[in-house]
Amino acid sequence: MLAEGPMIGAHRVLLAAPDDFDGWREAARGLAEAGVPASAIIWDVTGDEPDLFGDAGAPPPLGPSFAVPRSFVDVARSAICHSDPERFALLYAMLLKLRANKSAMEDRTDPLLDRIERLAKEVRRDVHKMHAFVRFREVAEEEVSTRFVAWFEPDHHIVRHTAGFFVRRFTTMCWSILTPELCIHWDGEALTESPGATRRDAPDGDPVEETWKTYYASIFNPARVKIKAMTKEMPKKYWKNMPETALVAGLIAGAQGREAAMIARSAAMPQPESNIGARWAALRDEAAACTRCDLSRCATQTVFGEGPLDARILFVGEQPGDQEDLAGRPFVGPAGQLFDAALEQAGIDRRATYVTNAVKHFKFVLRGKKRIHSRPDTGEIDACRWWQEQERGLIQPALTIALGATAARSLTGKTLTISRERDAPLALADGSECWVTVHPSYLLRIPEEARRHEERALFVRDLTRIRERAEALAEQRNGATRARHEARVAAE
Ligand code: URA
Repeated sequence: MLAEGPMIGAHRVLLAAPDDFDGWREAARGLAEAGVPASAIIWDVTGDEPDLFGDAGAPPPLGPSFAVPRSFVDVARSAICHSDPERFALLYAMLLKLRANKSAMEDRTDPLLDRIERLAKEVRRDVHKMHAFVRFREVAEEEVSTRFVAWFEPDHHIVRHTAGFFVRRFTTMCWSILTPELCIHWDGEALTESPGATRRDAPDGDPVEETWKTYYASIFNPARVKIKAMTKEMPKKYWKNMPETALVAGLIAGAQGREAAMIARSAAMPQPESNIGARWAALRDEAAACTRCDLSRCATQTVFGEGPLDARILFVGEQPGDQEDLAGRPFVGPAGQLFDAALEQAGIDRRATYVTNAVKHFKFVLRGKKRIHSRPDTGEIDACRWWQEQERGLIQPALTIALGATAARSLTGKTLTISRERDAPLALADGSECWVTVHPSYLLRIPEEARRHEERALFVRDLTRIRERAEALAEQRNGATRARHEARVAAE
């Protein structure tokens, strides 16, 4: 809504809610087309506005319309949810810049763009936290037999922004998420809202907590306890609402003994088959909002792994390239084509394997309009390792293949020389086998044809060995299953 205020020539915009992107967009477009400067606009949110102004006045006359790049809309959608009261004005100032210069989003040195991107990043991080740290408690209700209720305190206005995620993840449950500003409720069909609540409105411990605790204790990996990283990822302010954090001190205290026991046990531990698809989908959705490192700022999207969840071979590449970044799928560009052809020659059906990357965002430098691949550094590889470990934990492949040094670092935590390691398997922390070979892009970069052919033949040789090893392991597994079956029949 647009109104003339008492400030000379000022325009006042009254937005319906603190995250009212559509309201902001409509008002901002009209004002920008009319050439109204940022300093002449007062942005208010219904309910927060000081009672200084009169009713809506006539909007200013419109000038020619203009288009803005998709990247601005995406960043603005996130930034508008920030709690910074200046966000509406900052976004409007950026809109005016784009009106004057269509390429303004490409100016990486612009402090205004930098500030807006920082707001968007903080919001994305808050969204990620909410996805990861909301914990439901079970309450009995009259109309619906059970409702799951969670209390959460986001830093920004992200509750509506995250609602779709929870609807998708918990479609068949009835649930409520209570927050100080806004509550959302899902009854299995429709999403409704109610005003903010207090911590006291949410229930305390119940059996769901036990489930979380059991789950957390079973996935807690003492080999990876890094207190600083843990508190960064899971700030203490969230701990009080998370039943599993009650376990943390005890789990850390018993870490060494548990680590040894875990390594011995984990290879034999079957994953619950029934919900592996849902768990993978939830993981992929969480990764889509990942801001563990700065690469998420410039990449188009997270490129998660893909393939059957019962795959026996899992390939880990380096990071998505330009084409993968746009398509949202791993190994679909030139390196992917070489990879596909080599797999075929080695007798491996890619559709039966799971393919992912050590780093899930495209890292590049701009050269003119071209985005040139840039190697991820160890900080980025280590920040992203968590996703690869979760993928492997779900799929539990018999063989994991590191394509190149980045993948090898992600899988082993060490800097390895490929030529030294490619002839024998390494043992990963879970006891499974890891084979190391070259990355397909390395083959594309060899200038001399004869050498390129030689190296390509070695790559196919490695893949052939991997197929043979996978077949041998499958045969062993089948033999063991047959023997168990025969023993059972004999005993009956
Ligand atoms: N290189 C990789 O490592 N991964 C891809 O997905 C594409 C190229």
